[in-house]
Amino acid sequence: MAQDHPLSALMRTHHCGQLRREDVGREVILCGWVNKSRDLGGLYFIDIRDKFGVTQLSFDDFKGDRNILKKCALESVVKAVGKVVERPAEAQNSQMNTGEVEVAVTDLELLGSCDVDSLPFLPYGKIDVTENQRLKYRYLDLRTEKLQRVLKLRSDAAQKARKTLHEMDFIEVETPILYKSTPEGARDYVVPSRVHPGHVYALPQSPQTLKQLLMIGGTDRYFQLSRCFRDEDLRADRQPEFTQIDIEASFVTSDSIKYIAEQLMKNMFNLDDGFTLPAMSYAEAMRRFGSDKPDVRFGLEHLDVTSVFGETDFKVFKSVFDAKGLIKAIFVPTELGSFSRKDVDGLTDVVKPYGGKGVAFFKQEASEVTGGISKFITPEILSQLQDALKQSKSDKSESGTWLFCADPNFEVTHACADALRRHLGKSLNLRKEGYHFLWVYDFPLFEDDPERGRLAAKHHPFTMPKVSEVEKFLSSDPSSEESRQILAEMPAEAYDVVCNGYELGGGSIRIYRQDIQHKMFQVLGFTEEEAKKQFGFFLEALRYGTPPHGGIAFGLDRIIMLLAQTENIRDVIAFPKTTTASDLMSSSPSVPAQEQLEELHFSWNKKD
Ligand code: AMO
Repeated sequence: MAQDHPLSALMRTHHCGQLRREDVGREVILCGWVNKSRDLGGLYFIDIRDKFGVTQLSFDDFKGDRNILKKCALESVVKAVGKVVERPAEAQNSQMNTGEVEVAVTDLELLGSCDVDSLPFLPYGKIDVTENQRLKYRYLDLRTEKLQRVLKLRSDAAQKARKTLHEMDFIEVETPILYKSTPEGARDYVVPSRVHPGHVYALPQSPQTLKQLLMIGGTDRYFQLSRCFRDEDLRADRQPEFTQIDIEASFVTSDSIKYIAEQLMKNMFNLDDGFTLPAMSYAEAMRRFGSDKPDVRFGLEHLDVTSVFGETDFKVFKSVFDAKGLIKAIFVPTELGSFSRKDVDGLTDVVKPYGGKGVAFFKQEASEVTGGISKFITPEILSQLQDALKQSKSDKSESGTWLFCADPNFEVTHACADALRRHLGKSLNLRKEGYHFLWVYDFPLFEDDPERGRLAAKHHPFTMPKVSEVEKFLSSDPSSEESRQILAEMPAEAYDVVCNGYELGGGSIRIYRQDIQHKMFQVLGFTEEEAKKQFGFFLEALRYGTPPHGGIAFGLDRIIMLLAQTENIRDVIAFPKTTTASDLMSSSPSVPAQEQLEELHFSWNKKD
């Protein structure tokens, strides 16, 4: 802030990262936290810090009561008035932006004292405390350069998103937080109503139905940086409340949404002008990477080698083959990494969480095979494996290690081979620098819901079947096994934006015809009554003139994770929750007061 800035009248003339040699002679007022103080026998220095930097204060000219210096403990907040002077040549510090100067203080005021003896940690240098301590004292952790940098990054990225969408004629509309259940596949957070005894609101898992209603309302192009709430198992890239860049537009196709996504990614990630999203179908992503969000920063692609093991003596693979399961291989050329028996044994832990029992392996040196399951690798099998490798886009070599995941359940094999590949990419340090995007399209319309023994929406129930499949969809009979099979494999007008192995965004072209929407609820097993109860208002709106429309939502938090180069979503949220959805600072959630429960007409049975 410059001296003549209207805000400087508030308290300070400059911030702590601002003063340079050109300012020598200037009278200044600085405010900040005490970062360090030194008493060099008569010469006294305090470094004060704010989020912009650090400035050294010297006290040669200080005429006030020197006792105040003792009261200015680390992390207390002070206001210093003084003159900018050049430091003696030997005292200049080229590591500091302000290192050529210091402020010779004439007046010092303690604005906010710090009880340093009970301070949980000092928020700079090597902070040796657990993450839980940092979360409990988040306001101290926020003083770190790292978190302030992330907050700024996040604010700048949000501005870029807004600017990009505004320039494409999108308007920002806020939608309610106290609302009704929105079906995104997680549990709802519910809020009891005081005025309607026994009734609850649900916090939106996303503004999905609302943004569609905005299209029915003629809004044409909508966006919102919207808070979403999902009660689901948390992971390193999931929070119970998070922010979406939520987008919807009328009279669009999947290609229009892809274009919008490209403009947004280009601006938020500072990519080249001609940036386009490389497209890959869902089926191809699953085949080559076993994942719908492949990390394409490295090779080690999956090979489907099931058919190679039709006649093998290796019982494990033979039984998977006989059960019509899936066997996938990853070939790791020696140039990329080699494995000891112990290394391979360790890989079992990588696949276990995904239902895998182990990782089979053997080593190849030209036509020589050794180790692991090599005694089952006949020259015919080896030659078929090599053919599979040749035809793939994966890394090739004369020598290397073959690793295998096999399971009667396709999904287990995909998930294990995906986990294995990601583990290898990281541990062998194969991941290229930069942002590697994908537009994954043609997602399936449905997925199996084994608990309920029927199909569930893969994205959400408002997703349009692929245009070419609509007639087949409408004439399907979900009670017939044949139809079920067709529906299970039916592609949708649904897509994701993926970057470096993260799902950054997902969306679809929506159902805008009543007949298709009714059929969708029927296939999903909703009775007329259930559909009406949950989505009656929405189904009715479809009757009164609905434009074709579609959209996408990006996880802002995940975008910032990539920009900030962190793998922990908590790093990019000012006040995040733990993996058990608690806020350690405020001890939330907390037990409601009896009075509150009564007002809300709620009673409960507390177990302990
Ligand atoms: P979806 O459920 O795929 O789609 O969510 C869109 C994007 O939101 C982010 N995201 C999350 N980020 C942090 N924590 C979470 N718990 C979390 N859950 C999701 C992801 C994801 O890609 N209404 C649809 C969008 C649409 O169809 O337009 C929806 O919400 O980055």
